[in-house]
Amino acid sequence: MFPTTRMRRLRSSKFRPLVSETTLDVKDLICPVFVDETITKPMEINSMPGYFRQPLSMIADEAASISGLGIPAIILFGIPEKKDETGSHAYGDNDVIQKAIRTIKSNIGEELVVITDLCLCEYTSHGHCGMVSKTQEILNDPTLEILGKTAVSHARAGADMVAPSGMMDGMVGAIRNALDDNDFTDIPIMSYAAKYCSAFYGPFREAAGSGYTFGDRASYQIDPANTDEALREVALDIEEGADIIMVKPALPYLDIIYRIKKKFRMPTAAYHVSGEYSMIKAAAGNGWLDEKKAVQESLVSIKRAGADMILTYFAKDVARELESR
Ligand code: PBG
Repeated sequence: MFPTTRMRRLRSSKFRPLVSETTLDVKDLICPVFVDETITKPMEINSMPGYFRQPLSMIADEAASISGLGIPAIILFGIPEKKDETGSHAYGDNDVIQKAIRTIKSNIGEELVVITDLCLCEYTSHGHCGMVSKTQEILNDPTLEILGKTAVSHARAGADMVAPSGMMDGMVGAIRNALDDNDFTDIPIMSYAAKYCSAFYGPFREAAGSGYTFGDRASYQIDPANTDEALREVALDIEEGADIIMVKPALPYLDIIYRIKKKFRMPTAAYHVSGEYSMIKAAAGNGWLDEKKAVQESLVSIKRAGADMILTYFAKDVARELESR
């Protein structure tokens, strides 16, 4: 009790580092990369100031610069030249992602982990993450086969890990089977297991050109009001063979990260999504927030909640900041 106990004693700059419980390390970061088949120079994303889509011709340089900062992994999103009803340009050996993986791998080799976002919404003309019926319903089971085929095409091109994000039931199992049947037994799956139906993906739709032409994603993504549902999703994905599980978005779902880490003790990732990036950028741009401090605090909170790794558009900035300390 006060005055014997004085909590402020250890808050001096002398002791703070010693008693700090959570540290942010560059090795915790995964940097999202957008590769666009239709452009020839980097194109800034309006709703994500300071973030760019990269052309195929510059993708190796971009990967090298990320790797050079000590960031261990990227997650690749492709923007194809052509979209169709079934997303067929998601899995061709000469489509955008497959080319990007091969280019990165042949230029910078093994030190950078190349993860691929595995979803159809960037490749379908309607922008949904699955096949769509004539009555505009999302068809779960027919989508699984295409996801399996896409995963195999990524692995064949040299991807180190695949990350299914479409929230189709059974997707992890289908992808695991497809990979195993094609001798890719060592390619891990990072599942977007607890992916909420979130307004914070807004800027991503522009970034990846994956806006939808009708409806929304509520029939396949989790209701933000629910926790038990997320725990069940994670349990199923683990059973189906997920190696890493992800919670997305991050800051509005710290309780979910905490509960999932506590319950399953699995390698757990959190996706600090586009809207979380844009909010900080917008406020900082107006002089209302200190960007570096807000980013640092956000990411430390996500780790403190239990995330082992964080996918964030601030990865390069944070890596530079950590390097300069
Ligand atoms: C594709 C996908 C989305 C994001 C990652 N993969 C968009 C969505 O589900 O609508 C969002 C990432 C972000 O907002 O940063 N299914």
